[in-house]
Amino acid sequence: MNRRRFLGIGASVLGAGALAAVAVPSAAYLFAEGLPGRLLGSDLELPAAFQVPLPVPAVLRPVRSDGGNDYYEITQQVAMLEILPGVRTEAWTYGGTFPGPTLVTRSGRAAVVKHRNQLPVPSVVHLHGGHTPADSDGYPVDLLLPVGSPDPAASAASAGAAGSAGAAGAAGSAAPAMDGMAGMPGMPGMRHMSGRTVVGERTHTYPGKQRAATLWYHDHRMGFTGPGVWRGLAGFHLVQDDEEAALPLPRGDRDLPLMITDRSFAADGSFKYPAADASAATPGVTNGYMNGVLGDVILVNGAPWPRLDVDRAHYRLRLLNASNSRLYRLELDPQPAGGDALVQIGSDGGLLAAPVGHDGIEIAPAERFDVVVDFSRYQPGTQVRLVNRFGSGRAAEVMRFDVSSRAVNDDAKVPDQLSTVEQLDPAAAVATRDFAFRRSGSDGWTVNGDPYEPGRSLAAPALGRVERWRFSTDVHHPVHVHLDPFQVVARNGKDPGPWDEGWKDTVDLRPAETVEVLVRFTDYAGTYMLHCHNLEHEDMAMMADFTVG
Ligand code: C2O
Ligand code: CU
Repeated sequence: MNRRRFLGIGASVLGAGALAAVAVPSAAYLFAEGLPGRLLGSDLELPAAFQVPLPVPAVLRPVRSDGGNDYYEITQQVAMLEILPGVRTEAWTYGGTFPGPTLVTRSGRAAVVKHRNQLPVPSVVHLHGGHTPADSDGYPVDLLLPVGSPDPAASAASAGAAGSAGAAGAAGSAAPAMDGMAGMPGMPGMRHMSGRTVVGERTHTYPGKQRAATLWYHDHRMGFTGPGVWRGLAGFHLVQDDEEAALPLPRGDRDLPLMITDRSFAADGSFKYPAADASAATPGVTNGYMNGVLGDVILVNGAPWPRLDVDRAHYRLRLLNASNSRLYRLELDPQPAGGDALVQIGSDGGLLAAPVGHDGIEIAPAERFDVVVDFSRYQPGTQVRLVNRFGSGRAAEVMRFDVSSRAVNDDAKVPDQLSTVEQLDPAAAVATRDFAFRRSGSDGWTVNGDPYEPGRSLAAPALGRVERWRFSTDVHHPVHVHLDPFQVVARNGKDPGPWDEGWKDTVDLRPAETVEVLVRFTDYAGTYMLHCHNLEHEDMAMMADFTVG
């Protein structure tokens, strides 16, 4: 009996009452040990839960396709949205909606996505979980300046005249970053930009050399990822492949991406965020929120505590925690008889080898868990809440599923065997590297003692080689690695945890923990990053470059 089945069976023997009792000390421990973030209260009356129907983001159609490529276009724009009923909120959006449109692409085909920036600020798009060449990855100083911005090369030349030695790089050299460059007048937050900075439009090529997985795209601008995502710059990108399509998993409107975020609202309906600097020239948040910003409204696909009518059938829920810093423990309430309500079929990097039953899923920022829920385990008319056992007050509720009584067909099921997952071999590791994620008094959040500096690389892994990377922490940090997923092999020298199965690209480190993972980078040489995905930590310098060669 493997350890995860053991957990599942233990929970079902104990029953729901015992489970709740178990959850409380666990949450208390986390709070005591510094569950990241501080609550930012909204300044308007919050709506009742379970009133708004669950929205599902529209799927973006390619503008054209040829041999092996599908071409997409997205305009980043300000939009007035009704997020809280009767309240208008100005959002920064991909294509006018929050979440942005969902891209559904096919493994083996390239998605070529042209972004046009009509926002009032520079932006950077990163496809999180994408196996992406460096120049399309969304390196945080590869700015996309708003349409109509002054030419950065001209501005760099004048900065060069003022004595910035690196400025010539902006004319198009391969140097990825120019630290310390003079800011562009009238353009907040422009202290850093690379030679890949462009005005108006940028085309990202995602070659699609990766297996089916739930990815997401979001803003990644140097120092301003937190406020950018908070204001709405996030969307799903689902990669499909033949292997997954051949499985009898739920599909169509029973395959639901669920983007879970927390937000706070000001009295005028705008998103409230404790930026350190109202002019947005300096990154980061005010002192009290340095450990992360927690909102008091839980949104699923951009709607507050929504509800959904479900058939008594299997549903695939693609859970994404797109919150800036909030950790959730997601459970269904009531639990179905027999437990294992959430049958995990996939992780960040796609299908698991075999399903894993869970009574709850602890999900850190940027993680994805693909789960199947069989609502036929509930009586017709049951109201099944998705709850957050780590939240208190309004943050303890997420959404509600109302189980219908109508008779339906349901051919979907979860096969015992989902995929063949290559296990990386620890003995094959050619190097071991340590990355310490810690707060340092004067420097804010650091990796190996230093705040982020674009272009300073902490590691040079060789293409195709397995390495052992050890992440250690002071408090909670969800650590994310770009380019390729990894496999968790140990936590504090012991077995991985119940949520570490499969290919991961983000792993939550608990206070004072060391997590060992095996990485292997393939196909694309260049500069990539690893960083904390608590976006306030990220903006306050908890990032590092590595260079794949
Ligand atoms: Cu989702 Cu480097 O980020
Ligand atoms: Cu962190």
